[in-house]
Amino acid sequence: MERKEFLKKSLAVCGLSLIPVGIFESCSKQSYSGPSNVNFTVDLSNSGNAALAAPGGSLVVNGVIIIHIGGSVYHAFSATCTHAGCTVGYSSGTIYCPCHGGTYSPNTGAVTGGPPPSGLTAYTVTQSGTVLTIKS
Ligand code: FES
Repeated sequence: MERKEFLKKSLAVCGLSLIPVGIFESCSKQSYSGPSNVNFTVDLSNSGNAALAAPGGSLVVNGVIIIHIGGSVYHAFSATCTHAGCTVGYSSGTIYCPCHGGTYSPNTGAVTGGPPPSGLTAYTVTQSGTVLTIKS
């Protein structure tokens, strides 16, 4: 094999072997922080939002999980798990991730268990009559 041919083949092999490393690095550095610039309303009188009617109910809208804590108290967080981006749910007083068992506080969005590296982004919820406004 001539030197020129050897260099060509070596570069081709090296180039291919670097591609997977680049892919894995970009995957591991991906951020799962959820939506930004959130600003929308949810009308509780709309039958499509009936899941929020009773305390303990929750609904995912526009990438945001809204939780009816009790009375007129509602909390809203990013519905995107910070571990690997799965959509979280709410049950029995806990925000949970069905993918790897991560859990978060429904009051603060802080991690309470499992592999998530950080808490969920919290949004403000204000109520006017039957309309909730969720904002960043
Ligand atoms: S993606 Fe949520 S715990 Fe892994």
